Amino acid sequence: MRPIQAPYPAARFRRLRRSDALRRLAQENVLSVNDLIWPMFVCDGSGVSDPVASMPGVSRRSIDGIVAQAEEAAALGIPAVCLFPYTDPDLRTETCEEAWNPENLANRAIRAIKAAVPDIAVMTDIALDPYNANGHDGLVRDGIILNDETIEALVRMALAQAEAGADILGPSDMMDGRIGAMRQSLEVAGYQDVTILSYAAKYASAFYGPFRDAVGAGSRLVGDKKTYQMNPANSDEALRLIERDLREGADMVMVKPGMPYLDICRRVKDAFGAPTYAYQVSGEYAMICGAAAQGWIDGDRAMMEAMMGFKRAGCDGVLTYFAPRIARMLNDTH
Ligand code: PBG
Repeated sequence: MRPIQAPYPAARFRRLRRSDALRRLAQENVLSVNDLIWPMFVCDGSGVSDPVASMPGVSRRSIDGIVAQAEEAAALGIPAVCLFPYTDPDLRTETCEEAWNPENLANRAIRAIKAAVPDIAVMTDIALDPYNANGHDGLVRDGIILNDETIEALVRMALAQAEAGADILGPSDMMDGRIGAMRQSLEVAGYQDVTILSYAAKYASAFYGPFRDAVGAGSRLVGDKKTYQMNPANSDEALRLIERDLREGADMVMVKPGMPYLDICRRVKDAFGAPTYAYQVSGEYAMICGAAAQGWIDGDRAMMEAMMGFKRAGCDGVLTYFAPRIARMLNDTH
């Protein structure tokens, strides 16, 4: 596109910014509740609401509370929620078998939500970190994160989640070849309509810190995730990963984190035109909340401005802990 414009003073850009009506008329991108996926943390017990210190306004909730949040999401028009379990420390092992237990916390939460709010889409996380004694997303032997053995575990996990009624599976582990293996197993098992949203371009990021506190994986993590998550310096590699995962059968793809990687979102959308999502991760959420709490920025405005950045970068939707707050703002102003 080559924009055509007259020279000043014939062209005055301020004409279209003069009033709210003209600004709305000339607005290029729009955020809607349909763009939101609400991630939430589920823990054992009943009536539990356990605040995550590094994520103001976010609590781990027992299944009853998670169902209530799913009902709230549906009432607000949010199309999907995404579940992350805080697993009992006793169930975290080197072999991670709790990950594919049909009765594990995540799978029980999926069933409870689908029973109470059948129309909301339930997204899951597929990675071993909430079940792993060492906090890694994959099985570890002699300090090495094993790829192919991990895939077998992840496939079991995917099938258990599909069986529980998950609508969208979210492999976030960054092992090679897992999308193809999951897709094939889902087809064979009769789950051909279960969707995969691949965390295809996921970077080894400092912005996941508060999340690791929330799922209790941070203090357990031995070393770092740099042998499987991406180097923040890379961009072409993200495109190759996205193409690979689309070819293996991903329906949707994700870039993660969000705000420091908007260039990747734009490249991905332009290159493939696939449904593209960004994850505004825990550290991004914490930064906005933290600065707002100090009175250094206007939290609501910063939140909405960050969202518009994702839309401008070509994202079809955003996973964000702000989802209910954004939805309330959007619903109030129309
Ligand atoms: C784990 C997983 C992580 C997040 C989502 N799934 C953390 C990690 O990779 O260490 C991060 C989400 C966030 O920070 O909000 N597989």
